[in-house]
Amino acid sequence: MRIVVLTGAGISAESGLATFRGEDGLWEGHHPADVATPEAFEANPTLVQRFYDERRAALTRVEPNAAHVALAQLESALGNDLYLVTQNIDDLHERGGSERVHHMHGRLRAAWCLACNERHVWEEALTDGPPCPSCHSSMLRPDIVWFGEVPYGMESIDQELADCDLFVSIGTSGVVYPAAAFVHYAIGNGKRTLELNLETSDTTSDFHESRRGPASELVPAWVEEVLSGRSG
Ligand code: OAD
Repeated sequence: MRIVVLTGAGISAESGLATFRGEDGLWEGHHPADVATPEAFEANPTLVQRFYDERRAALTRVEPNAAHVALAQLESALGNDLYLVTQNIDDLHERGGSERVHHMHGRLRAAWCLACNERHVWEEALTDGPPCPSCHSSMLRPDIVWFGEVPYGMESIDQELADCDLFVSIGTSGVVYPAAAFVHYAIGNGKRTLELNLETSDTTSDFHESRRGPASELVPAWVEEVLSGRSG
């Protein structure tokens, strides 16, 4: 059985990373247009860099939870029959043991040089304008897909959705496109669909099945079902 798993901020919530929407969400304190668009970066680079520097620094204070670890176990068992695509810019899937993670919205621990177009692994702050290791100009931005930009690797995601048997969406509100449309694409191609979420999402009613609860419980239980052959 080939499975495509899409994850959102909800899978990292129990690790201590704030989600975007809802009470105490990141977008409650910041309007996305102020920190997550190319226009915002042009108008106020310091504000934008500081916002993502804080998010990057927060990664050093959190650990993957049981949901990340369970998906890594699923990858070990299924190999290439699992395709994990995440909207998350944290690195908790990798630290939970997943080796192949498609970060469609980019990664906090990466910087992109607007002068030479090189991308670099990046752990430090960007607010002070450090030099690019390749061309030495101070034009690094977070390697994150902002609103109005095209998510990474859409062609391979479309292909995986067309080739899979099951599409599973975990901890995402179903508000941001194109990820919110994956369920429609999967259903249009005759795939089975399952949602795991703490609350009802904008796309809950579109899934064949939707389960309510924290990811740290729902994901290991579902992985166990798959591994024992009870799911699908
Ligand atoms: P949201 O903050 O929009 O939604 C988080 C989802 O996680 C909600 O549906 C919650 O019900 C669910 N949730 C919260 N805690 C959970 C838990 N413990 N277990 C399971 N589910 C839980 O985050 P995303 O859907 O990831 O994009 O947001 C999508 C995109 O919007 C982000 O990638 C980001 C943002 O703007 C960019 O910045 C480009």
